[in-house]
Amino acid sequence: MSITTTAHITTTTISQTAQWRALQEHHLAMESAHLRDLFAADAGRGASFTAEHDGIYLDYSKQRITAETLDLLAELAEAAGLGEAIEAMFAGAPINSTEDRAVLHTALRRPRGDVLSVAGQDVMPQIHGVLDRMAEFAEQVRGGHWLGFTGRRIRTVVNIGIGGSDLGPAMACRALVDFADPDLEMRFVSNVDGGDITEALGGLDPHETLFIVSSKTFGTIETLTNAETARGWLLAAIADPAAVRSHFVAVSTNTAAVAEFGIAEANMFEFWDWVGGRYSLPSAIGLSLMISIGPAQFQDFLAGAHSMDQHFRSAPLTQNLPVLLALLGIWNRNFLGAQTHAVLPYDHRLAAFPGYLQQLDMESNGKSVDRGGNPVDIDTAPIVWGAPGTNGQHAFFQLLHQGTTLTPCDFIGILRPAHELDNHHDLLMANFFAQTQALAFGKTAAQALGDGVAPEQVPHRTFPGNQPTSTILVDKLTPHALGELVALYEHKVFTQGWIWGVGSFDQWGVELGKTLANQILDQLQGTAAPDAPVLDSSTAALVTRYTAAERVGVGG
Ligand code: F6P
Repeated sequence: MSITTTAHITTTTISQTAQWRALQEHHLAMESAHLRDLFAADAGRGASFTAEHDGIYLDYSKQRITAETLDLLAELAEAAGLGEAIEAMFAGAPINSTEDRAVLHTALRRPRGDVLSVAGQDVMPQIHGVLDRMAEFAEQVRGGHWLGFTGRRIRTVVNIGIGGSDLGPAMACRALVDFADPDLEMRFVSNVDGGDITEALGGLDPHETLFIVSSKTFGTIETLTNAETARGWLLAAIADPAAVRSHFVAVSTNTAAVAEFGIAEANMFEFWDWVGGRYSLPSAIGLSLMISIGPAQFQDFLAGAHSMDQHFRSAPLTQNLPVLLALLGIWNRNFLGAQTHAVLPYDHRLAAFPGYLQQLDMESNGKSVDRGGNPVDIDTAPIVWGAPGTNGQHAFFQLLHQGTTLTPCDFIGILRPAHELDNHHDLLMANFFAQTQALAFGKTAAQALGDGVAPEQVPHRTFPGNQPTSTILVDKLTPHALGELVALYEHKVFTQGWIWGVGSFDQWGVELGKTLANQILDQLQGTAAPDAPVLDSSTAALVTRYTAAERVGVGG
């Protein structure tokens, strides 16, 4: 049975291929394999199950695999037509089939002068045109030449956006804080919870504040509500509607909606419907990042992503970093039965990276029908989560070591930190290496007894081990390296989605909640039409309790 690899549709499921069955059989043979034995049998394992590209080193020897597992997984990727799919994506074929769109975030980081024709039009000039406008604007803000309405220089930039219009730039600004302009503060507002914008505006001077309203659609209610509140806050201090022009810019694909909000087209930075929200950090959605680190460093970030793109496109499957991460994830998810996947950066600057990956992975591949609309018969995206080490060690690592849930992990470490506290870094990295060691090899009852543990304590003091981990070592957390990491995970997600047969680039699953929220808002505000849908008994009772509390003013 063959997989159709034309851009639009997959006509059969990967689980019906001979390659999938071969992996199932192989899994039966591997079921009792313990990492202790795999390492004991092969002294070179730690060196051979590795791959490297441009300052990013991957050690996957602590995954429960053998060379045969890897070969079988690579054959699976070939059976799914991964190579053709990669080329289709890079060439701008409409692989986002439910929205009939190309998927071209990779074009955003292609060098000036490249030609990429989509539907008969070269998209590269418009990409670099917007990058040039962004750079000019960023330099004006950074240089103090972009002035607020009353002639003061901008000191704080507030990005208003949510999902892909927030998580990427917020994560990246935090990760690249060592490259940031110290005279500019970057803040991010995403939640419609009024507490978020209240906190973000706290202590700010409206005369010195610039808002970037970031929304692909410019129709997202949370973002528009926050933007209106910000505009009201500005105009309360500067009672002239013309002030909006000096204090608001927009990033969007929707020129008409931006104009309707009152932001001039000259203050809008464009991107295109072939850039998915969660893939939009390298587009104008990265404007806050560019203002923070400067256009040259932003170019380095793009160059890093491009470097990983080239690697993804050209490296053999078993040396291809995104493909390896994807295949190991499929092995863990579909054959070892892992429900979850943890990402554990041992660098505080990457604290927001797991949250960013949650959207990237779970909004892309959290699907239960395939690209043809048929129910899938295999598990798709795992639950992705994580937190920086060493904090996590004192919170949830207990479950990783001795719990009942198999949790494969990516450990991400940085070889050279930006600070000079070498003793801290040695301690951090000693913990980093120790955790993957403990998770892989555990501690047997005999070892515990040998350590002098009292026999009745032995069950509590043994560690099963055999917990699969990958270790990713990054030379230094530069803009280039962050670009590589972003592209690494983007392509991992794409590879998995392609092999599972799901469409990774739409997100219909978020729509129902939005529709229902609008209906309930009408109920809360007493504007529901007489023929509005009747609420279920639980929701109706909760709404009644809320509206009653609002009337009496809960909490005084
Ligand atoms: O939550 C759904 C979603 O459409 C995400 O995919 C997107 O990143 C986010 O909302 C924000 O959308 P927009 O940029 O259009 O405001």
